[in-house]
Amino acid sequence: MRWFFLVLALAIVTFVVALGPRGAKFSDPPFELFPDMDRQYKFKSQKPSHFFEDGRASRKPVDGTIPMGYSAPLNKEDGVPTSALDFSYGEGYYNTGLFGDYFGSGYPEELTLDQALLERGKQRFQINCTPCHGESGNGQGIVSKYWLIPPTANLQSDLVKALPEGQLFWTITHGKGLMGPYKGTINVQDRWAIVAYLRALQKTSATTAAN
Ligand code: HEC
Repeated sequence: MRWFFLVLALAIVTFVVALGPRGAKFSDPPFELFPDMDRQYKFKSQKPSHFFEDGRASRKPVDGTIPMGYSAPLNKEDGVPTSALDFSYGEGYYNTGLFGDYFGSGYPEELTLDQALLERGKQRFQINCTPCHGESGNGQGIVSKYWLIPPTANLQSDLVKALPEGQLFWTITHGKGLMGPYKGTINVQDRWAIVAYLRALQKTSATTAAN
């Protein structure tokens, strides 16, 4: 019983200390457990800001801004989008990687296969794919060190080497298994650029010092 009262008294003291001095005025700022959640370096929409000259936090979009998910205006002469903002869900091999119901191989005629395309593909691959598939595509990206089951695919494997270009494009577009789809973040041309770069990667890895 003695212990019970002791614990009870302690509990009351703790309670009072924790909640007691409510309504009292403190000059010190309150103790915050997670201050980063309370105070964030951001502007709330429709709130004033002293940072900008016109005193508004909400800014107008830059001239010529196109909302994500919408296609850029089409060029009048050839109907090709006027900017690179093309996340097309259109028809044809260029947009789908398919000929009818089958994956096509080779590159669509809309594509100009040149150094610039490969450079672009390299950059996009390194941004989007290396975390999982690794710089060389061997599946040993940083994620593979933490994410053990299931392993990310080895893009240097004979299996992936044998996949037609259209299927690679399709996989990037729609994802596969735990790999997400990229149709909303990588535009059509860039997806082909990645396919071309991936093919180049596979070719270079096939060569040894001897040849
Ligand atoms: C979040 C990690 C992750 C990222 C990022 C990622 N992948 Fe994958 N990828 C996977 C996994 C996991 C698989 C195995 C899927 C399966 O077989 O179920 C895979 C499979 C593949 C395959 C093989 C498909 C097949 O049919 O065997 C290709 C090709 C591929 N990825 C290409 C890419 C390309 C190109 C990118 C960059 C645009 C990319 N991946 C980004 C995780 C990722």
